[in-house]
Amino acid sequence: MIRRLAPSVLNADLAQLADQVRLVEEAADWIHLDVMDGHFVPNLTLGPPVVAALRPHTGHYLDCHLMVSNPEALLPALAEAGANGVSMHVEALEDPERALAAAAGLGLDAGLALKPDTPLDTVLPHLDDLDLVLPMTVDPGFGGQAFDDRVLPKIAAAARAIAERGRPVGLQVDGGVNAATLPRCLEAGANVFVIGTAIFGADDPAAAAKAFRELIDRGSGGLKERSGSPSVNERGAG
Ligand code: DX5
Ligand code: ZN
Repeated sequence: MIRRLAPSVLNADLAQLADQVRLVEEAADWIHLDVMDGHFVPNLTLGPPVVAALRPHTGHYLDCHLMVSNPEALLPALAEAGANGVSMHVEALEDPERALAAAAGLGLDAGLALKPDTPLDTVLPHLDDLDLVLPMTVDPGFGGQAFDDRVLPKIAAAARAIAERGRPVGLQVDGGVNAATLPRCLEAGANVFVIGTAIFGADDPAAAAKAFRELIDRGSGGLKERSGSPSVNERGAG
């Protein structure tokens, strides 16, 4: 599975969103957009209109992390806005199977996200019907929090379960990922790395993104897996 870097713009300068994305485009595969509703999490960020506004400014895969109480309701507007993938929190879903099918039916790659304390069992029954699993390594809602090492065994268990299925399912980490914690995520088997503050909080976000790109590719097998340099459009889930 190709490893992907997904900078999160949550803590970027949102008044210059397109410019901030441009800074990291060369190093990044995906752009991670945190959609929050002030209800599922105590923060309120962006939604379909901002995704639509950003869409003409980048060819990159737009990876939308939905931290909202009713993610299914947002799917049609996000698909219309040009999102490529959505991760819905399993804690917010009454019927994950239906939600995953709804996303797929709209042409979206579909993922399930879990809070740090949510067991992996909630997601395992759906592994054949999804494209991405996201075990959060902080409580969702804010950037700049400390990575929760207690999630590492869950990431490793997810990696094993995905490998057993033999399907191309991404395993994403999000929250407190930085130069110190990223190697632990690689070791546990993650292959999609969301990085917010460690990129956009750096003096030179472009250089920081490039350094993470190298760190990701240097991990065992990374360089080999990336050879053949997929074009931006080929860098979907899977
Ligand atoms: C937090 C968001 C993250 C956030 C990560 O709920 O889901 O995507 O931007 O930021 P850092 O990398 O600073 O933890
Ligand atoms: Zn996120």
